[in-house]
Amino acid sequence: MSIRPRLTPRRKPPKFLKVLLLLLVPICMIGLYINGQKISYFFRPLWDKPPRSFTRIPHYYAENLSMDHLCRLHGWSLRSQPRRIFDGFMFSNELDILEIRLHELYPHVSKFVILESNTTFTGIPKPLFFASNKDRFAFAEHKIVHDVFSGRIAPSGSYEDPFILESEQRAAMNGLIHRAGISSGDILLMSDTDEIPSPHTLKLLQWCDGIPPIMHLELRHYMYSFEFPVDYSSWRATAHVFGPITRYKHSRQADLIFSDAGWHCSFCFGHIHEFVFKMTAYSHADRVRRKDFLNHSRIQKLICKGDDLFDMLPEEYSFQELIKKMGSIPRSASAVHLPAYLIENADKFRFLLPGGCVRTPESQ
Ligand SMILES: *[C@@H]1O[C@H](CO)[C@@H](O)[C@H](O)[C@H]1NC(C)=O
Ligand SMILES: *[C@@H]1O[C@H](CO)[C@@H](O)[C@H](O)[C@H]1NC(C)=O
Ligand SMILES: *[C@@H]1O[C@H](CO)[C@@H](O)[C@H](O)[C@H]1NC(C)=O
Repeated sequence: MSIRPRLTPRRKPPKFLKVLLLLLVPICMIGLYINGQKISYFFRPLWDKPPRSFTRIPHYYAENLSMDHLCRLHGWSLRSQPRRIFDGFMFSNELDILEIRLHELYPHVSKFVILESNTTFTGIPKPLFFASNKDRFAFAEHKIVHDVFSGRIAPSGSYEDPFILESEQRAAMNGLIHRAGISSGDILLMSDTDEIPSPHTLKLLQWCDGIPPIMHLELRHYMYSFEFPVDYSSWRATAHVFGPITRYKHSRQADLIFSDAGWHCSFCFGHIHEFVFKMTAYSHADRVRRKDFLNHSRIQKLICKGDDLFDMLPEEYSFQELIKKMGSIPRSASAVHLPAYLIENADKFRFLLPGGCVRTPESQ
């Protein structure tokens, strides 16, 4: 008797549920479609393994110690003559970072070997920013070996595979380094423009015998400016004692990494249009999933908050690290242990220093 009254009200929900499901399923699908990348990044610890771990070489440094003392602290010995250093990097549009790099490393580098492509990695024609700003770098003219890589333009409506164009450009570096006059026993640095080894790292490479033939350089990673230190995760830059089998790369090449060896400042631009250019030009341009990602006021807001330009989660391999790094990058008020040229010219580079996140209006 008491069963019936219960059954009738129970029959109603299925219809209501059907309607609810009809509404919920498409909403979930749309949600998945829009946030698919985010969801997949959140579960990265389940589908991706961290890169093989490095053996870290401790790095000793204090002001005003003799090179002999510094070399011996690392278990190396002082040379009678410094090695020559060749600094090879591909340049896209990082004009301010390039100015800092050239000034900072100038005393230690024999030749800056700069390759600039006339297309982006994504196959779009690109102005030659270095060539057209040569005057800014005239002070280092006699140390610069510059060449233009002729890139391929993607047929309209399609994309070049950015990773293929990028690796072709890196291969072209080998020829340019030879033309710059490198020989066995010289130091060759392989990095991107925005990966800047510190001058005291270069002095060790120059003056110490017994350094490993290939070392990765562990760089402090910053985003947008030195106000937003991310972590020490930057490892792609390398220092090589040049030999017959040395080839220019920007990938894993050894198990040794030299600790705290410099700075990697990503998206450290003075103008919003430079952010937009880089976002569409570099190998991860597929991350620009919506047109409004390139909206100038949106970009300005994000870089003042230390938030991600592509609305993505950090690339981490454990849930603990992922959750620690989610959200905005904490702000730093320290401008200590940064490139000396940057501090000397703090007025010019205000946008790279604490409190300077607002970019000046475009002058293009
Ligand atoms: C640095 O070393 C030189 C000589 O080795 C010494 O004359 C000078 O006072 C030192 N400077 C500092 C700041 O310790
Ligand atoms: C790039 O440079 C090469 C060689 O100078 C030239 O043939 C090619 O047309 C250029 N491509 C673009 C997109 O300017
Ligand atoms: C850019 O975003 C702002 C809000 O953040 C909006 O007011 C503005 O209309 C957008 N501009 C364009 C060109 O979409």
